Amino acid sequence: MNKSWWKSAVVYQVYPKSFCDSDEDGVGDIPGIISKLDYIKSIGVDVIWLSPFFKSPGFDNGYDVSDYFSVDPVFGTMNDFKVLLNEAHQRGLKIIIDLVVNHSSHQHLWFQESSKSKNNPYRNYYFWRDGLTEDEAIQRWGQDNLPSYDLSKDKRMRFPPNNWQNLFGGGSCWEYDKETDQYYLHLFSKEQPDLNWDSPKLRQDVYDMMHQWLELGVDGFRMDVISLISKPEGLPDVTDGQSLIDIVANGSKVHIYLREMREVALAGFDVMTVGETAGVTVDEAKHYAGLENTELNMVFHFEINDLDGGESHKWNRSKIKLTDLKNIHKKWQQGLAGIAWNSLYLSNHDQPRSIGRYVRPDEVYRERAQKMLATVTYLMAGTPFIYQGEELAMTNCFIKDFADLRDIESINAFHKMLQTGLDAEEAMEIVGIWGRDSCRTPMQWNGEVGAGFTKAKPWLKINENYVAINAKEQAARKDSVFHYYRALFALRKGMDVFVMGDYVPVLEEDERVFAYNRVLDGESVFVLGNYTGYEVQLFLDMGIDANVLMGNIVDSDFLTTKVLQPYEGVVISGVPSMTPCKPL
Ligand code: GLC
Repeated sequence: MNKSWWKSAVVYQVYPKSFCDSDEDGVGDIPGIISKLDYIKSIGVDVIWLSPFFKSPGFDNGYDVSDYFSVDPVFGTMNDFKVLLNEAHQRGLKIIIDLVVNHSSHQHLWFQESSKSKNNPYRNYYFWRDGLTEDEAIQRWGQDNLPSYDLSKDKRMRFPPNNWQNLFGGGSCWEYDKETDQYYLHLFSKEQPDLNWDSPKLRQDVYDMMHQWLELGVDGFRMDVISLISKPEGLPDVTDGQSLIDIVANGSKVHIYLREMREVALAGFDVMTVGETAGVTVDEAKHYAGLENTELNMVFHFEINDLDGGESHKWNRSKIKLTDLKNIHKKWQQGLAGIAWNSLYLSNHDQPRSIGRYVRPDEVYRERAQKMLATVTYLMAGTPFIYQGEELAMTNCFIKDFADLRDIESINAFHKMLQTGLDAEEAMEIVGIWGRDSCRTPMQWNGEVGAGFTKAKPWLKINENYVAINAKEQAARKDSVFHYYRALFALRKGMDVFVMGDYVPVLEEDERVFAYNRVLDGESVFVLGNYTGYEVQLFLDMGIDANVLMGNIVDSDFLTTKVLQPYEGVVISGVPSMTPCKPL
């Protein structure tokens, strides 16, 4: 297998708004990131993924871009970005940026032009459609299934072109525009109109824009909801039992467009690409992330979310069952082996932090549990992506006051939950579990007021536990999560088996322990993690050469006792390959 640099790399996600505020306006910025490059480098990562910093009215925290080749003044200037790139490169760090081209902001010039008239040259950059009359709507959906409608609208246009409900829980995917008397499509908020990838001109403009960033020296792209860019012919209704994602993801031309993008925009650049691909299956991923590199290098899949969330019904208190989690990893690890490349992640700016989600340890085990999760997750096959603060075992911040919420999706969900009969307290509790503000709270740098993130009022609440959980404390303490992450990535880089080896699951039926071998050329490494808060006795035959390479408990006696302590994670070499570790 060809060993491209991004296969052995570790990526660190920076969410600029919450990383480091250098100019004391309560919002993180690019000079703030520059001031922390040595810190990022010290974790042993190779690549920084920067969430959007482009000009944006901020309805979705920058995932609504109004000028793709720009820096929003709140984050700094284009010159600041150039300095960041240069300083990162000098430290051997690469930078990939977010490419948000399933939709733009409604304030983007393209959309403003597009909405001027039906024959504007940009009209076709978006999806504009006539609405339905009442008769048409009744015929299509039946009298009892009519969506709510606006009586003030002309009869001809009372109903939207189809029954799609947007992914942010804010009602229809269609917004009526008086000016030209048509509706436009938005899968997310109405401030994020969907771009029409069937327009060759739009595609060329996107490729040109990508080129500008590549010429500037960026090292690749994380492509936002890229699996949604090819909409189904005729925009058919969602039918019973289907979700919107089922019909808009992996559209018939998505692979054609991504291949074109590879040839037109990326050819000649040794860059890294990762697609955020809602609705992707293993079979689809073989096309998106195939090793022959005709489209992307790797994708983020969402199957773990389906265990405790799901696209439209994530607002709940479900727990992940360990055997289900292991089955999903097995499916992806073995399904893509030798064919395509995996990505590995525990959380990001859209998903809850891992402590409290995958495991729910008492505070006394929080750090140990985070180390265990990292060990088990990042020693699988694929490129690890860690989310800022994860290396400190930062936790979700449960925001209690509705007024402190900032995220559009959480605000919509809160209102919806009230409509379904929950009281405000219950709704806020569930928003605390799944709401995206919970994982987006500012980075905790030190124990001073403002957590070293800002001296001003932060744009989003800082988690009160910053006094105890912060980077300064972690860096100063040798047994911290921070130092463990460093050692883990050093271990991963030092042994080819972690990058190139096969994945062989062990103890597949066990609800307590996640265990697998990585095997390469007869060399085998055994990785285990106890997902419970109690001791687990295992009955394993590991042979006489077994040796602990790494673990989250100093002086663990696991090799002699075969007892895993609560949340213990351990990596063992010298076990016989392929037939090891069968329960006796
Ligand atoms: C992606 C982003 C998320 C954003 C959405 C719409 O899922 O990660 O933050 O809200 O796309 O752009």
